[in-house]
Amino acid sequence: MVSMVLGILLVLVALPLSAGAQTHGNLTLGSSLTADDRNSSWQSPSGEFAFGFRKMGRGAHLLAIWFEKIEDKTIVWSANGDTLAPEGSKIQLTTDGRLVLNDPGGRELWSPNPTVAGVAYAVLLDTGNFVLVSQNYVNLWETFNQPTDTILPTQQLDQGTKVIARYSEMNYSAGRFHFILQDGNLAFYATPTPLDVSDAYWVINTNGSGFQLIFNQSGQVYLTATNGAVLNLVTSDTVPTSAFYQRAILEYDGVFRQYVHPKTANSSSRWPRGWSVVSSPVPPNICTSIPLNIGTGACGFNSYCSLGDDQRPRCHCPPGYTPLDSTNEMNGCRQDFTPQSCDESRPETDQFTFNRLLHTNWPFSDYERSAAQTEDWCREACLVDCFCAVAIFSDEGTCWKKRIPLSNGVMDTSVGGKALIKVRIQNSTSKSTGDGQKKNKNSTLIIIGSVLLSSSVFVNLLLLLITCLIYRRFRSRDSKLLWAVQINQAAVTQTFTFQELQEATDGFKEELGRGAFGAVYKGVLRSQDANFVAVKVLATKTGEREKEFEREVSAISQTNHKNLVQLLGFCNEGQHRLLVYEFMSNGSLADFLFGSSRPSWYRRVEIACGVARGLSYLHDDCTRHIIHCDIKPQNILLDGSLTAKISDFGLAKLLMANQTRTTTGVRGTRGYLAPEWFRNMPISGKVDVYSFGILLLELICCRKNYEPEAESEAQIVLVDWVYDCYHEGSMLELVESDEEASSDIRRVRRFVMTALWCIQEDPALRPTMKKITQMLEGAVEVSVPPDPTSFLSSI
Ligand SMILES: *[C@@H]1O[C@H](CO)[C@@H](O)[C@H](O)[C@H]1NC(C)=O
Ligand SMILES: *[C@@H]1O[C@H](CO)[C@@H](O)[C@H](O)[C@H]1NC(C)=O
Ligand SMILES: *[C@@H]1O[C@H](CO)[C@@H](O)[C@H](O)[C@H]1NC(C)=O
Ligand SMILES: *[C@@H]1O[C@H](CO)[C@@H](O)[C@H](O)[C@H]1NC(C)=O
Ligand SMILES: *[C@@H]1O[C@H](CO)[C@@H](O)[C@H](O)[C@H]1NC(C)=O
Ligand SMILES: *[C@@H]1O[C@H](CO)[C@@H](O)[C@H](O)[C@H]1NC(C)=O
Ligand SMILES: *[C@@H]1O[C@H](CO)[C@@H](O)[C@H](O)[C@H]1NC(C)=O
Repeated sequence: MVSMVLGILLVLVALPLSAGAQTHGNLTLGSSLTADDRNSSWQSPSGEFAFGFRKMGRGAHLLAIWFEKIEDKTIVWSANGDTLAPEGSKIQLTTDGRLVLNDPGGRELWSPNPTVAGVAYAVLLDTGNFVLVSQNYVNLWETFNQPTDTILPTQQLDQGTKVIARYSEMNYSAGRFHFILQDGNLAFYATPTPLDVSDAYWVINTNGSGFQLIFNQSGQVYLTATNGAVLNLVTSDTVPTSAFYQRAILEYDGVFRQYVHPKTANSSSRWPRGWSVVSSPVPPNICTSIPLNIGTGACGFNSYCSLGDDQRPRCHCPPGYTPLDSTNEMNGCRQDFTPQSCDESRPETDQFTFNRLLHTNWPFSDYERSAAQTEDWCREACLVDCFCAVAIFSDEGTCWKKRIPLSNGVMDTSVGGKALIKVRIQNSTSKSTGDGQKKNKNSTLIIIGSVLLSSSVFVNLLLLLITCLIYRRFRSRDSKLLWAVQINQAAVTQTFTFQELQEATDGFKEELGRGAFGAVYKGVLRSQDANFVAVKVLATKTGEREKEFEREVSAISQTNHKNLVQLLGFCNEGQHRLLVYEFMSNGSLADFLFGSSRPSWYRRVEIACGVARGLSYLHDDCTRHIIHCDIKPQNILLDGSLTAKISDFGLAKLLMANQTRTTTGVRGTRGYLAPEWFRNMPISGKVDVYSFGILLLELICCRKNYEPEAESEAQIVLVDWVYDCYHEGSMLELVESDEEASSDIRRVRRFVMTALWCIQEDPALRPTMKKITQMLEGAVEVSVPPDPTSFLSSI
């Protein structure tokens, strides 16, 4: 009786296990897996690796091998990155001894190449190697011999084996970077089909005696000679194998890195959780390592590469350029404006100005070089040349003209001189304006022109005018160029008369927005090469004395950071107090984030880091430490290339000095305001940290902090919902319908944890903005945050 009960129990216990259909041993002929929502897989005997399907998007599956026991389930090999398998596809070890991936219609999507037949069984080894074995136990084919971008301990690569980086972090199709053991040397290439080793951007040279590339058990990657002698260490750190998973990967940015991951989640704090890089990356700085005059360089055309604080390359568009593909920063940039006309009768030289980038160069795009010149000469030479897109001016006085497409762009302290980037001033003829509209404008011009030209008196007048203009242009060129630079460096505060600003805004006609301090209008400064500006009309009763106002404004205008909206000038005339800012063409983050087109995860990450850097600068780095006091999406603006810029900083001190702290919020809806505002507590920079935390959560989840109409009651208050999800480990719920974010769940977790630190009730527990910047960038470990409200209950 007892044994019968036991038996039933055993069956009950065993049933769900076998229903999971996880094979741990040899795969016999006829075995198959189907691509569906169950992520079906075959596992290695230890369960550490799995072979099977991974869902990459709606109805698109990748046949892959991955680390099964870690949260990321990091993929180490894949079969069909270029042609993802639709729902219902099947990988099959056929009864006639072939491994083949078929779509639901039976069409072959992938099979080992060259063709392998006569397989008796297949096995996924505990090393992560998937092997097809013949009747007489000969290995017919193994994934270790056909790597994708990753190599694993015990893997050995022979001559001619290619390791090809994927296209982007989440796109497993082949990218342009690869390395190959070629003529005994390990050569890294940035183009898919290079000519020969002279096209390589990095070569590990063994004088031709290299025979194999080995990743040994203890974590070293090296080249050996035919006799097994170690020739050259590629990565040199040894790792305690028993405690860490390891992999070495040629990443999509063209850099070969070796990673380790603790096997148990709670292992000593020496390593952060998740993968961390060991050994120095190869090459150490890819931005400066591609000395080739073919191809695009480390980044795409018209962009430039710089090494981030985390030692990873970043691709940026120069000012006036935007990414071709917003989902892949390595795809290059395009001009945001119509190129200069080469029509000699309409040279457009007054339509262009220069932005300056220090330590930046595009070494191979030049077509003309002039020695012993001044910077102004260099600008002018580029300005009058419609082919010139960028002028590089070296400290020694050499001027290079560069043309489109710019390639191999790099920004690095090792690069001398400066890049002068030619951009169109007027937006009116920008590419984005409809063609029809442009034609209309031109034709009206022509009509006006032809009517006027019919009078010969007018012709004379016109000639006179042109002569004057040319004369003035030559005289004023220097000051004009100077102004363009000053706008970018913004060291001066202009003063404007009220009338000037009234004219600039066409009588305050186009309202851009309205905030706590007054309304903002779009304007154009005709005196200054027609730059668009935003004019803020301050609510009049500011209570500040004249001198004090000017002192504050000049302090504000001295702040200069990529993530702050630049103050260009002001007007202080009796009742009228106005501030003039640079114009942000993409409006506020509130509209961008909560609008109809939800921004990509990558874009949101950039924005979060940008705002954090801007705040960190305000708090710590600028001469006067500024507390913003009103961080919220409405006060974050986006420029033409969607760079986040904080606006309205410095105004709190200027305008709220004597105001009592009034808050209209009700509990639960008080939004971005730190608890200090509601209690009798001193106000410090930590109020901005709190507000930033809320903003960060909104960026992560792409929703407002308070949504009375939310699906379930638990979701109404964002902070509560996030903490619940975090607490229960159901982080995916937060970014459910967001594939990009779901697949970057480790960063989501890091961001959520950072945000939870920011919104601690106790200001002392909140990190500084500088620390937060590092936490977001992954430069420091983020420890487990306490329940944000625990302080509340203790007082
Ligand atoms: C797989 O098959 C091989 C050869 O028959 C055998 O040596 C090995 O033990 C088998 N492994 C398992 C886990 O059954
Ligand atoms: C399959 O994998 C996806 C992402 O890798 C995951 O969201 C999903 O929960 C998995 N499904 C199952 C049934 O495990
Ligand atoms: C991956 O990138 C390639 C090249 O741009 C593109 O053709 C393909 O559609 C992308 N695949 C996915 C799944 O996005
Ligand atoms: C390659 O040859 C050069 C000069 O002949 C020598 O200095 C260098 O050590 C050699 N490198 C290897 C890896 O044998
Ligand atoms: C790995 O290679 C290093 C360097 O060649 C050597 O010291 C170490 O003993 C090797 N480890 C194993 C497990 O072979
Ligand atoms: C980590 O886990 C091991 C067993 O899995 C346990 O013995 C050890 O106490 C844990 N360490 C910590 C710090 O939790
Ligand atoms: C430039 O023109 C485009 C299209 O008309 C418009 O969306 C954008 O806001 C304009 N930018 C500026 C700086 O006026």
